[in-house]
Amino acid sequence: MAGEQTGPPRRPGASRRQFLFGGAVAGLGAAGAIGATYALSSTGAAPPSTDAAATALNGARTVPFHGAHQAGVETPAQAHSVFTALDLNSDVDRDSLRRLMQLLTDDASRLTQGRPALADTEVELATTPAGLTVTFGFGPGLVARAAATGPAWLRPLPAFSIDRLQDEFSGGDLLIHVGADEPMAVAHATRMLLKDTRSFASVRWAQNGFRRAYGTSADGTAMRNLFGQVDETVNPVPGSADFASVVWAEDGWLSGGTGMVLRRIEMNLDTWDELDRPGRELAVGRTLDTGAPLTGSKDTDEPDFGAVSATGFPVIPEFSHLRRARSDSAKERIFRRSYNYDDQPTGPGVSNSGLVFVSYQADVDAQFLPIQRRLDELDLLNKWTTPIGSAVFAIPPGCEPGGYIGETLLES
Ligand code: HEM
Repeated sequence: MAGEQTGPPRRPGASRRQFLFGGAVAGLGAAGAIGATYALSSTGAAPPSTDAAATALNGARTVPFHGAHQAGVETPAQAHSVFTALDLNSDVDRDSLRRLMQLLTDDASRLTQGRPALADTEVELATTPAGLTVTFGFGPGLVARAAATGPAWLRPLPAFSIDRLQDEFSGGDLLIHVGADEPMAVAHATRMLLKDTRSFASVRWAQNGFRRAYGTSADGTAMRNLFGQVDETVNPVPGSADFASVVWAEDGWLSGGTGMVLRRIEMNLDTWDELDRPGRELAVGRTLDTGAPLTGSKDTDEPDFGAVSATGFPVIPEFSHLRRARSDSAKERIFRRSYNYDDQPTGPGVSNSGLVFVSYQADVDAQFLPIQRRLDELDLLNKWTTPIGSAVFAIPPGCEPGGYIGETLLES
């Protein structure tokens, strides 16, 4: 019935009018509340320390390199990542690509297991992989150089009206994604692998990202982005049949691999500061504390898009990110595994932050594009977010010992 309050009376003060006009003033209130909470937890008392906490070392932890799929996709996201995209030199052909991928595979398989690369110059740095994974991706240029054809979606995404793309964060022939819970491990592995590429390619761009540091919260805790939002709540569950059907491709040389979309999305924390807490929650359609939908109390609750407030407005607004990103079709789903970035401010404000948004899906055109199109048409988050980089890669399947990543493309 129109006008009836069918959802829980969340945030009674958060009327549309307050959302539109009350931001700055209420924002001050929110800042005060945040300050108070912080003060409570920083009274100077030393945090409890236990022997278990003191001895729980993670440096030696390894993730298997070999297998049907490359590691670093289904693997629980580590705390640190570097994504490096390379442009192949003009003389690189199918044969040299084979040599390059054999070299890279060999070193990646050593480093991820805590062993130095073949010509390692800092061998000590290889001994603490801390869950290191290396994942290779092929851009359209590499597949063309292999004189092969790729999936139809392996091309730059179409232009979107929200895009302000910069070349320095876009495109690339070969992607090397290195992730670990230890930034030294990431830096060392990235450097060793880039040394392998020296006579084949040059670095086009590199993007660093982080999530919560290892040991900060229990395994499986959803990540937060720099807007403070609980992120990646609705995601296929790694290891499940559902995950496999969303992520792993089944055709040709990509069978056992996947499609990766990487978007560098600037999040303007300076203007986000002007929005009060209810406004922030309406923009995404979820609460900031637990990440629950505005019609629920737990992050796992299903949103009720039909619920309306006493004033007749949908409790989860039509323009919210949750509403717009939600797919009614089971086929339009993706697996998100993004990283935060926080760089030196370069403009008039004090932030230069955002998301290295990463999603994996078997078919970029069928699964990712419809979602991105909807967000391009309408999504209140667009007011504070701007895509400034974009790249699409085919992530080939994994390999067994003795094989190499890319063999299904380069040996076919
Ligand atoms: C900086 C940009 C972005 C931010 C801050 C952001 C943030 C969020 C947050 C907080 C949620 C709710 C919790 C969750 O389920 O994860 C969410 C959901 C989602 N986002 Fe984003 N997002 C961004 C960009 C994107 C992009 C570019 C896409 C894809 C084109 C996307 C797709 C989704 C999907 C599919 C969901 C789950 C919707 C559902 O409940 O079914 N997001 N996002």
